[in-house]
Amino acid sequence: MSGVSLNVNGHSHHVEADPQTPLLWVLRDEIGLTGTKFGCGVAQCGACTVHVDGQAMRSCVAPVSAIAGRKVTTIEGLQSRAAKAVQKAWVDLDVVQCGYCQSGQIMSATVLLEQNPKPSDEDIDLAMAGNICRCATYVRIRAAIHAASAQLTA
Ligand code: FES
Ligand code: FES
Repeated sequence: MSGVSLNVNGHSHHVEADPQTPLLWVLRDEIGLTGTKFGCGVAQCGACTVHVDGQAMRSCVAPVSAIAGRKVTTIEGLQSRAAKAVQKAWVDLDVVQCGYCQSGQIMSATVLLEQNPKPSDEDIDLAMAGNICRCATYVRIRAAIHAASAQLTA
C-alpha cells in the first residue's frame, strides 16, 4: 500500500491505496462518493464515467496512480453551465427509469455539450455510444441533450 493524492470535486484527498486500484473504487470506498456506479468493470458500459481534466473517463479501468495530480469531477461535483442544463433537461423530460446508468449518461452528455453546445443527432449518438442503458432510455436521452443544448444556445 502507498498513498495517492487526488483532487476530487475541488477537494484534496490523500488515500492509502494500491497504485493499481481503479479510481472507481477509491471514489466509492475511500472517499464515499457512491454516485459513480460499477457496471462491467471493463470499460464497456459507461456507468463509471467521471471527468478527468474535463474529459470523460471510465473510472473502472483507470489506475488511481495515473490520476494523481489531475482534476477529477464526479456526478456529485458537476457545476458547469452545461451540467446544470443537462440536469434540468433530464428532470424536465423524465429521462430516468431505474437510474443505474444515469450518472454515467449525465457525465458523458455534459462533456459533449461543454465541447459542442449544438450537437447533431449523429454527434450525440457518437458521444453517447459507450454508455449502455438496460432500460433503453436512449430516445429520451437524445431529446434531453437537444433540450439542454437549446437552453445553452438560447
Ligand atoms: S463499469 Fe466502467 S465502463 Fe462499465
Ligand atoms: S435507466 Fe436503467 S439502466 Fe439506464
